[in-house]
Amino acid sequence: MQAPPTDQLHSKLIPMLQEIQERLGYIAPEAVEWLAKELKLSEQEIYGVATFYNFFRLNPPGRHEIRVCLGTACHVQGNEKLLDTICERLGIQPGETTPDGRYSLERVACVGACALAPAIVIDDEVHGRMTQRALQRLLDKIDREDEEAMKKRGEK
Ligand code: FES
Repeated sequence: MQAPPTDQLHSKLIPMLQEIQERLGYIAPEAVEWLAKELKLSEQEIYGVATFYNFFRLNPPGRHEIRVCLGTACHVQGNEKLLDTICERLGIQPGETTPDGRYSLERVACVGACALAPAIVIDDEVHGRMTQRALQRLLDKIDREDEEAMKKRGEK
């Protein structure tokens, strides 16, 4: 396991990284470059801190954010397998965004819906008692709606 960042680094950087993520939706490379100059740190040190805490996102979020709960109840109910299915279908790993910018994927701890385990959150909506079949149908539906919306906007 990676060593935790020093207290000094931690106390300076965390609030700045949080603010950058709030404003941009992720920790952009340009922001890391700016922070490095501002705090007289190497970019490597900043990435070290940003990657240590899994709430920092290093990729721009997709139009649809998928969060797979891996808290105890969801883990026991097989959400790890659903996560594998999503990774396979989208061709990305947790923390990544699909090249077309449609989906981003995160693993998260309990989302407060343990009675509905296994739960997956898509665009802030909790989908409980998820099955492989329900998951595929849900992603098919999002794909269809997204493509229709893109057509309407003349993007496709
Ligand atoms: S463990 Fe998944 S909602 Fe609580």
